[in-house]
Amino acid sequence: MCGIVGYIGEEQATPVLINALKKLEYRGYDSAGIAVLGDEDLIIRKAKGALKFLEQKIATEIIQGTMGIGHTRWATHGEPSDVNSHPHTNVSGKIAIVHNGIIENHARLKSMLEEGGVTFKSQTDTEVVAHLIDFFYEGDLFQAVLEALKKIEGSYALAVISQDDPSRIIAVRKDSPLVIGKGEGENIIASDVPALLEYTREVYYLEDREIAVLYRDHVEFFDTEGKPVEKDTIRVEWDVASAEKGGYEHFMLKEIHEQPKALTDTLRARIKTYASKTIHLEEIGFDSSWAEAGRVIITACGTAWHAGIVGKYAFEHFARIPVDVDIASEYRYRDPLFNPKDIFIIISQSGETADTLAAMRMARKGGARIIAITNVVGSTLAREADLVMYTWAGPEIAVASTKAFTTQLMCVYLIALQFGSLRGVVNEEDLSRYIDALEAIPQQAERLLADKEAIQRFAAHQFNKTKAFFMGRLFDYAISLESALKLKEISYTHSEAFAAGELKHGPIALVDESTLVVAICTQEALFDKMDSNIKEVKARGATVLVITYEDVSYFDASADGIFRIPHTIDAFSPILSVIPSQLYAYYCSVQRGLDPDKPRNLAKSVTVE
Ligand code: G6P
Repeated sequence: MCGIVGYIGEEQATPVLINALKKLEYRGYDSAGIAVLGDEDLIIRKAKGALKFLEQKIATEIIQGTMGIGHTRWATHGEPSDVNSHPHTNVSGKIAIVHNGIIENHARLKSMLEEGGVTFKSQTDTEVVAHLIDFFYEGDLFQAVLEALKKIEGSYALAVISQDDPSRIIAVRKDSPLVIGKGEGENIIASDVPALLEYTREVYYLEDREIAVLYRDHVEFFDTEGKPVEKDTIRVEWDVASAEKGGYEHFMLKEIHEQPKALTDTLRARIKTYASKTIHLEEIGFDSSWAEAGRVIITACGTAWHAGIVGKYAFEHFARIPVDVDIASEYRYRDPLFNPKDIFIIISQSGETADTLAAMRMARKGGARIIAITNVVGSTLAREADLVMYTWAGPEIAVASTKAFTTQLMCVYLIALQFGSLRGVVNEEDLSRYIDALEAIPQQAERLLADKEAIQRFAAHQFNKTKAFFMGRLFDYAISLESALKLKEISYTHSEAFAAGELKHGPIALVDESTLVVAICTQEALFDKMDSNIKEVKARGATVLVITYEDVSYFDASADGIFRIPHTIDAFSPILSVIPSQLYAYYCSVQRGLDPDKPRNLAKSVTVE
């Protein structure tokens, strides 16, 4: 999830571009770069790392030019480096582009261009677009962009400039955001409104597959056929501070809301439909030899470990393969038994957690093969594992993990189903049905989020409860663990999770009138067992919130409150059932006057032991 900007006007472009990029740094900070069109040349400057390194690099330079484009990168294809930084250019260096998104067919396009004699400089998917525009260029940049768009697949927000066309910037979007600020004698583009607010509040929102051509004094819009499109500006009234969080009060709430999009991105390009729907993990190098494993060992920390527990249930259910799941900090110091036929799945949002890396290195030393599930391209985990499956959740800024977790679950399901399919446990028909269910989840999550006020109201009444217990069975137990962690992390409520069947072996001694019990009930075969557990805690004075499917009335009589989620296959329910708990923790934190984004004593990435 990178940030792109562009400026054309009367002012010097460089300070405007740098300033606008600062407002987009939350979108990624692996590298930054600008391309400014001076009187004669296109001047390009790039630097690996945060924007400040680019600023330092150009601090003593005067870069003359009143139009330009800029980029702050969250690496996807190609590690963070100077050469992989945007802007990218064609071979002659006359056309420069910045891109946010993923060009899914970049490999095919690259081969085609290479056959035509193009030499690539970077490992990015983006560079193909610069060469493709060049390929179609016959003196009209706009026409060349139109032709290039016909060839590219995937998601993109693009800004293009050319030394031979010094009066305009061409911008286009599909599935990645792009807004245009209309100024006086100047126009600006950016991935998000905060970058524009210092210059204008009159904004055009570009729709998917619309093209904007920005001149100094006006902007023209077209569809991808080149036909003109009429657009009006919208006046943005946001205050600058809140706009940086995309209008949300906190990054955590924003990230909770980004889950439908993140889940779509995780699935995209990994599902293919031929005769029936199939999962494609070739992009990560997964082949049938992986499915011959004798055992799967999953290690991780914190929230990622909870994704591992879901993984254990999913692998055993879908692939009928034995799975051990371990906390990395325990695993690394135990004397664990494994052999080179075992496969390790290491899960980590950051890919930098010290204990997780140590567990991975232990596996490597023992000769086992490793699949990494991570969100950060170029992270240590990604570099050292044999296979890497990226979660494509985009930067997660709030310390409490939300969208990284649900996308980790999506990855785990895809791998488990692929194992099941290759091992002959899941047949073609069932696989197709499971894929349909997974594909429905982003939209179901969207629907669930539309009802978030129900959780907000419940939190408004319950946030002062001093004890909160989460209970569930099977997949619901894993989500109970994650739910309890979310609540304790950001609201400092003493919360614990229990396998509901364990309640009578101790935890029930703690239950009294001051206790909130959240019962997660999505495992249909065990509804009656859960209902008994709910009645047991109610009899001891607890207030009970049930999280169950929207079409289930089983718990109506026993619960004090019910939050309903869309119905999915029971094994996939964790992706949906965790969302009410994320919202509940968030609203409790806010009700208590805390900052959910920066909980005390916690860090986003624990790179020390
Ligand atoms: C920290 C974070 C958690 C995260 C855990 C593991 O404790 O606060 O949100 O789950 O580290 O991080 P990882 O990056 O390895 O997933």
